[in-house]
Amino acid sequence: MKRLFLQVVLTVFLFSLVLTSSDSLRVDSPWEVGFVDGENVSLPCNFTLDDDSGPIDLRKLEVEWINGPTILTYKNGKIETSSSYKGRLMMNEQNLRNGDATLILNNVTEMDVLTCIVTYSGEMRRDTIHLYPKLFVHCPEFIVASPGEESNFTCNFSSGSHGVQIFIDSPAFSIEWEKDSNKHLIARFSKVQEQYMDGVSMSMSEIHPRTFSLAFQSVNPDDYGNYTCKVYYPHYIQGSAVTALYKGHVMVKSTKTVEVTPGDDSNFIYTFSLDTQEGSPSIDNSLLSIEFHKDSNNNLFYLFQNGEEQVLDEKIKISRNPNKDSFILTLKDVELHHRGTYTCTIRYPNHKEGSASTILLVRKSLSSVHITNPVVLDMIVNFFLLFSLLLKQVNRYTHKHPH
Ligand SMILES: *[C@@H]1O[C@H](CO)[C@@H](O)[C@H](O)[C@H]1NC(C)=O
Ligand SMILES: *[C@@H]1O[C@H](CO)[C@@H](O)[C@H](O)[C@H]1NC(C)=O
Ligand SMILES: *[C@@H]1O[C@H](CO)[C@@H](O)[C@H](O)[C@H]1NC(C)=O
Ligand SMILES: *[C@@H]1O[C@H](CO)[C@@H](O)[C@H](O)[C@H]1NC(C)=O
Ligand SMILES: *[C@@H]1O[C@H](CO)[C@@H](O)[C@H](O)[C@H]1NC(C)=O
Ligand SMILES: *[C@@H]1O[C@H](CO)[C@@H](O)[C@H](O)[C@H]1NC(C)=O
Repeated sequence: MKRLFLQVVLTVFLFSLVLTSSDSLRVDSPWEVGFVDGENVSLPCNFTLDDDSGPIDLRKLEVEWINGPTILTYKNGKIETSSSYKGRLMMNEQNLRNGDATLILNNVTEMDVLTCIVTYSGEMRRDTIHLYPKLFVHCPEFIVASPGEESNFTCNFSSGSHGVQIFIDSPAFSIEWEKDSNKHLIARFSKVQEQYMDGVSMSMSEIHPRTFSLAFQSVNPDDYGNYTCKVYYPHYIQGSAVTALYKGHVMVKSTKTVEVTPGDDSNFIYTFSLDTQEGSPSIDNSLLSIEFHKDSNNNLFYLFQNGEEQVLDEKIKISRNPNKDSFILTLKDVELHHRGTYTCTIRYPNHKEGSASTILLVRKSLSSVHITNPVVLDMIVNFFLLFSLLLKQVNRYTHKHPH
């Protein structure tokens, strides 16, 4: 009896020694991947060898993807796919050299469980991916409400797949709301349990399926900010959306186009104000932020922040008017390459940012226009032609009738 026990222990010990001693291969895939009906998904599978194993030798490598039955194999340098997945599977052989056995699956329509199996020099490792439909949450980009007012975010969710039904009465269905980036949970809703911070409540619409609201009984100054809404359901990839509660808007106005000739100065005139249901509050300079960009290249060249301005281009001059609600930005000694679209974005706490764009046109000066004008050129050429013809006639006449 004792001997048998020792034998078992020894066998287990030796077996585990064999397993751990050749632990140089690692295979790594994400736990879950989301899909939308009819779209293509990428199923990542990375494998790595010990640092001292050298580069990957494809002759020693075998890869297999299974979802129950085998759907794809890579062996002896050849990729073979199952006939039931004809034309729907793709794996890049070149990427295998870099330890990447990612599978692309086209036209996905149902959830699945797929396993990536990698064998290298006889050693085998695997990792499994759950292919779940994606959930999408749709919320308004932002809402506006004054302090003391009653307000709400009305959002809805949708599924990336028609294959699976969602029952909101299920205990596993839940909606969560977080405020700002501190991930502070302010509401959690499910049919079995609801939790709210003071002054907020949630409801599902009776009329519109998959529509719900987060309501503020009376908006508090602390309530302004960004909100993230997350929807959870088992065997679905969580959906989320970001929205915001603002007190008002920043209004920015500017001239649409400015036209100058090279060497001139161009003036961009901006006026701005805060627009709320209670009127236009005065602006606190220390809270104001103004950014000035050219085109879409995000090339910032004027910044006003924390009450200080930063001019990032020596050709720029700024003058702000005394009541501080407008300013003139001057671009000195304009050159042809300065033409483009200039955008000014103004931000103020608890207000939806505003922006305005001006197109700068740079035209060559008038004196140079005359010479290059094709009509003028044409006239000059025609005149010379006529003149030479006339000269010829005069010449002929004087030859025929010498004095
Ligand atoms: C696989 O490797 C790539 C690059 O080497 C990396 O970007 C990716 O996050 C990795 N994926 C997993 C699931 O480890
Ligand atoms: C999926 O991939 C196939 C082949 O690579 C391509 O023809 C098709 O347009 C892709 N479909 C989508 C929805 O991206
Ligand atoms: C995608 O799959 C569905 C269902 O399997 C099929 O009806 C449809 O024709 C496929 N679409 C393409 C582009 O292969
Ligand atoms: C879902 O919400 C978005 C954003 O509020 C809205 O534009 C869309 O019309 C809503 N869709 C449905 C089906 O209610
Ligand atoms: C949400 O607000 C809108 C308008 O602001 C209102 O019509 C609607 O009744 C409100 N819904 C809820 C559930 O409070
Ligand atoms: C809200 O989000 C915007 C854009 O991501 C960010 O600029 C702003 O600082 C955020 N506001 C708060 C109060 O976190």
